[in-house]
Amino acid sequence: MSVPTRPQDVNPAGDPTLATGISPIDADMDALLRVNNVAKHFPIKQGILIQRQVGAVRAVDGVTFAVRAGETLGLVGESGCGKSTTGRVVAKLLEPTSGEIYFDGQDIAKLSLRRMRALRTDIQMIFQDPYSSLNPRHTIGTIVGAPFRIQNTKTDHGIKAEVQGLMERVGLNPEHYNRYPHEFSGGQRQRIGIARAIALRPKLIVCDEPVSALDVSIQAQVVNLLEDLQNEFGLAYIFVAHDLSVVRHIADRVAVMYLGKIMELTDRDTLYSAPMHPYTHSLMSAVPVPDPRKENKRERILLVGDLPSPINPPSGCVFHTRCPKYRSVLSDNDQLRCRSDVPPLELKATGQFAACHFPEVRADIAVAEDAGIAGRPGSG
Ligand SMILES: Nc1ncnc2c1ncn2[C@@H]1O[C@H](COP(=O)(O)OP(=O)(O)OP(=O)(O)O)[C@@H](O)[C@H]1O
Ligand code: SF4
Ligand SMILES: [Mg+2]
Repeated sequence: MSVPTRPQDVNPAGDPTLATGISPIDADMDALLRVNNVAKHFPIKQGILIQRQVGAVRAVDGVTFAVRAGETLGLVGESGCGKSTTGRVVAKLLEPTSGEIYFDGQDIAKLSLRRMRALRTDIQMIFQDPYSSLNPRHTIGTIVGAPFRIQNTKTDHGIKAEVQGLMERVGLNPEHYNRYPHEFSGGQRQRIGIARAIALRPKLIVCDEPVSALDVSIQAQVVNLLEDLQNEFGLAYIFVAHDLSVVRHIADRVAVMYLGKIMELTDRDTLYSAPMHPYTHSLMSAVPVPDPRKENKRERILLVGDLPSPINPPSGCVFHTRCPKYRSVLSDNDQLRCRSDVPPLELKATGQFAACHFPEVRADIAVAEDAGIAGRPGSG
């Protein structure tokens, strides 16, 4: 298939509202959460008596995205790209190094812990390993009831009734109120974590790989529970995962991360049927499609080289050291641009943001059942 190689090729109709530097938060002014150019750098210190900073792990290096009320934003990318750190910074379990985080219109990036306490009700987190996030010495009643005790607005009797109601809602037996985490299976423990997270009716839950540690059959049950709760309470989720099929099931939109930055952000169907960023192309090409005839025709795009260190990321586009397009398609001048200019994450087609100087739609590696992307820019 011949593929377009210039930015204007992804906007063949010349729509003037596209490719004009519009960022994901410019396009979503009313979103529940707006994260603007947020970075989290972990300092590296050396010295025995006097410690001085000799560098930093740039775990998250300027991410911009929005989450709308009631939607699920999937966050995908290979291990170490900064997904969990992004989630923890948004939930304010980590302080951002720089950037702005607007939640319900208020910048929470620099809020003090005391003022943040009120917002704790609205933003909650569910972790990958439910066992390590549940205190083994506390009963389920104590764990799930903790948010109510901190609020100090209910009697013990009222808290018990509330917790048992929550247990029932997430599919646990309310009579197991006095049991300890080790008395539950992995899936049940994740349900406990979910009950604790929804106790105070938050608006946003950051789910950090909530099903990765569970058996496949249990994964579907927990994902379905999360979807039911979302519909019931109008919850928004940031859903961190490395499994693209899980994300495809649950996410409304997906952000693809690489080395602390977002490479592409778009709605789920567009990402899987018309990925635009060379990094997304390689991720998608690794996802098998059920039809063997289509599968045989698909190109498997292997990335060469190791993931660079976030301590010393590549200049310009951080993906250039592994980008197949950079290696095999671009001219010397274009390569120079990739090495020297950081591509901003900006609107390249309707609802589709990419951080690449030379994006192109690759329908040939689409994962969608119907791989046809008629009408998509650049699909010809
Ligand atoms: N507290 C910390 N101190 C120093 N470096 C850290 C710290 N936490 C994370 N990192 C580094 O930041 C980078 C991003 O880590 P993070 O856990 O956010 O990645 P991830 O995408 O969630 O990976 P995984 O898929 O393996 O969970 C990694 O290089 C990691 O080693
Ligand atoms: S900016 Fe250049 S190096 Fe980066 S992804 Fe695009 S083509 Fe590849
Ligand atoms: Mg992680």
